[in-house]
Amino acid sequence: MTDLDAFIAKLPKAELHIHVEGSLEPEMMLALARRNGVALPYASVESVQAAYCFTQLQDFLDLYYQGMSVLIEEQDFYDLAMAYLRRAAAQNVRHCEIFFDPQGHMDRGIPFRTVIDGLWRARCDGERELGITGGLIMCFLRHLDEASAERTLDEALPWRERLIGVGLDSSEKGHPPSKFQRVFARARNLGLPTVAHAGEEGPAAYVREALDLLGVRRIDHGNRALDDPTLIARLVAEKIPLTVCPLSNLRLCVVPDLEEHPLRRMLQAGLMATVNSDDPAYFGGYVTENYLAVQRALDLTRDEIVTLARNSFQAAFCDKSVKQGHLAALDAFLAE
Ligand code: HPA
Ligand code: ZN
Repeated sequence: MTDLDAFIAKLPKAELHIHVEGSLEPEMMLALARRNGVALPYASVESVQAAYCFTQLQDFLDLYYQGMSVLIEEQDFYDLAMAYLRRAAAQNVRHCEIFFDPQGHMDRGIPFRTVIDGLWRARCDGERELGITGGLIMCFLRHLDEASAERTLDEALPWRERLIGVGLDSSEKGHPPSKFQRVFARARNLGLPTVAHAGEEGPAAYVREALDLLGVRRIDHGNRALDDPTLIARLVAEKIPLTVCPLSNLRLCVVPDLEEHPLRRMLQAGLMATVNSDDPAYFGGYVTENYLAVQRALDLTRDEIVTLARNSFQAAFCDKSVKQGHLAALDAFLAE
């Protein structure tokens, strides 16, 4: 381990792009399948891992939806989120904004309440026991229609105060942000900040649509924005953060290898890029492993690493005082 590796491990950071269902480790998947009597096509951790061979986003999503079928009880959602938060805390993540996909559960007959109660209890215990701030961002599945997203938002209304935002994920190609204009407008009218996955496999035009039609305050991934110089200039001018996920990009073949990853180009262009894990149980690493891998591949400097960590707090959806506290802790760490 180099000095820079040790520095990355200890660096206070925020994680803004993590799908809680994507933190389901094979061990927990098999244990919950047993606990809940759910049949899976795998007999061992090794056979689960052997299936994780993807050439595009959809290959992963097929296994991701199959994996989440073991989540049935409130306790399952709690255990899943708490396991993630413990790993995050061990990596010096101080603030987490956690995506969840209620339609992936409601469509299997799991009540919204079961999902939100388990995740919320973990979020509260995470703050009390681990000192991690943050909250839950409810995502709509873009391969489903807007009416389904509207019904999901209706279901969430009683728990509005448990959400810090609304997002958009799942199969990007052929499902432009424009499909969800009305439901995003309604979410914004409820005071919920919005984000959307865009420019992962879809074109730069989807990033533009997410800004213009969904009013998003951050872009999840955003790699393809680099195809469009006018869009880059706008993202820089409007200080729109990008939640970049290097190991996800590698595993889903969004980049051919990490040496070709656009992260350094994003920083050099003045974009507010952050580093995140996306679906750590499926892509081979949590947030620290993402920093380590991309640092090595691009030979990022210590200053660039610090910029990425600072950006992660700057881009967070939290009260000014919470944000100032995290930034002060980062500065204190750097002064040591
Ligand atoms: N992209 C789109 N949808 C997702 C992802 C992703 O990387 N992870 C979980 N749902
Ligand atoms: Zn994602």
